[in-house]
Amino acid sequence: MPQLARRTGRAKPSAIMAVAEKAKKLKAEGRDIISFSIGVPNFLPGEHVYEAARKSLDKDSGQYGSNRGTDALLDAFLHHLEGSGLTGYTRRNIVAGVGAKHVLYNLAEALLDEGDTIAYPTPYWTTYQDIADIVGAVSLKLPCPPEQNYKLTPQQLDAALARKPKVFLFNNPSNPTGMVYSKDEVAALAEVVARHPDTWILLDDIYNRLVFDGVGYHNFLHFRPELRDRTVVIDSLSKTYGMPGWRVGLIAAPENVAQALVALNSNHITNLPEVVTAAAIAALTGPQDIPQRKCAEFATKRDRVLAALAGIPGVVCPRPEGAFYAFPDISVAFGKTHDGVVIHNDVDFCNALLEAKGVACVPGSAFGEPRALRISYTCADAQLDEGLSRIQAFFAELA
Ligand SMILES: Cc1ncc(COP(=O)(O)O)c(C=O)c1O
Repeated sequence: MPQLARRTGRAKPSAIMAVAEKAKKLKAEGRDIISFSIGVPNFLPGEHVYEAARKSLDKDSGQYGSNRGTDALLDAFLHHLEGSGLTGYTRRNIVAGVGAKHVLYNLAEALLDEGDTIAYPTPYWTTYQDIADIVGAVSLKLPCPPEQNYKLTPQQLDAALARKPKVFLFNNPSNPTGMVYSKDEVAALAEVVARHPDTWILLDDIYNRLVFDGVGYHNFLHFRPELRDRTVVIDSLSKTYGMPGWRVGLIAAPENVAQALVALNSNHITNLPEVVTAAAIAALTGPQDIPQRKCAEFATKRDRVLAALAGIPGVVCPRPEGAFYAFPDISVAFGKTHDGVVIHNDVDFCNALLEAKGVACVPGSAFGEPRALRISYTCADAQLDEGLSRIQAFFAELA
C-alpha cells in the first residue's frame, strides 16, 4: 500500500475549528448555542466593496493574472501601509496571497529549511505551530504567562535571539490574548532585534486597525527602519474589513523574500481572482468609516467582557486593548466539579461549559496556555451578555 507523505502526519486540523464544529453540531440538534469560538469579525464590508466586485464581473477578462497581484492592488496596499506610517516601499516589496494564513505558510516555505528554528511568544495563534510542524521547523516558544500580561519582555527576546533562530515571529495585536504592545514596549523590543542581525523578523500585524484606548499601532520599523532588509509585515483584509471569506492577505517584504513568494504563488495559486482583487482595492482605498466604527464597537464589547469576568472570583483577565479576543485565566476551576463532572483542565472546562450552558469557547491549550480559554466577542451585544451570564452561572455552580 502506498503511504502518505510524512509531512501530512504533521498537518493537524485546527483546534479552533474542532470546537466550532462541535458547537455547530449541537446547534443542529436544536440546542441553544452561543459561540465565542471562531475569530470572525461578524460584519460585512461596505456597499462600495460589493459595487467594485460587481463592476469587475461586468468586465471580466476570464484570464490568468499576475502572480504577485495587480499593480492597482499593490498600489492600494502601499497606500494602506503609508496610512500606518510604513513608507519607502515599492511594488517590488509587495505580494498578495489567499489570506494571511496562506502568506504565512509561503513565508515558512521560503525562509525555513527542515530543522531550522522559528521563535515566537506563547500564547500564540495555533497555526504558527502547525505551519512550523508541516515544514519541519523547530518551534522555540517563549512563555509569556498572564503574570506578565502575556507580553514578551526585551530580556526574553534577547536571550531567544542569542540562540540565532532563523525566524522570529511576532503578533501584535495578539490573537488569542488581545494584548497590544505600547509604543515604549515596541521600541524596546526593536532595539533588541536590531542587535541580532541573523534572524528574519515576521510581523503578523493583521489586527493593526483594531486597537483601543488610544494605544495606537506601533511596529519595529517605526523605530528601526533599517530592519526592513530582514523584516516582513503581514496584513490581511479579513478582520479589518469584515472580509474573512474573500481571502486576501498581503505582505511588505525585502525584495528577495517578495520574489520567493511570487515564485511560490506561481506554482500554488497563480493569482487572486479578478473579482476579489477589485473588492480588495475598494476596501483598502475606499471609505474607512466601517472599520473605524467596528473598532469602537469592539472596544465597548471588550468592556462588557471584562466587567462580567471581574465578577467571577479567582478569574484573572489581563486587559485586552485590541483585536476582539479576551483570554482569561480560568485555572481557579481546575479540580472542581460541575454537575458531577470533574474539571481537570481547560479542555474539560470548555467541554463542560458547552454541554451544560451551550457556550463555546476555545481551550487555551490550543494556543499553548492551558490555564486559559479564549473568548471571541464579536457577536451581538444581547448574545454576548447572555453568553457571559451563562459563564458566570457556570462558575457559581462549581463545587
Ligand atoms: C494572528 C492571525 N494571523 C493570521 C490570521 C489569518 O488570517 P486570514 O484570514 O487572512 O488568513 C489570523 C486569523 O485568525 C490570525 O488571528
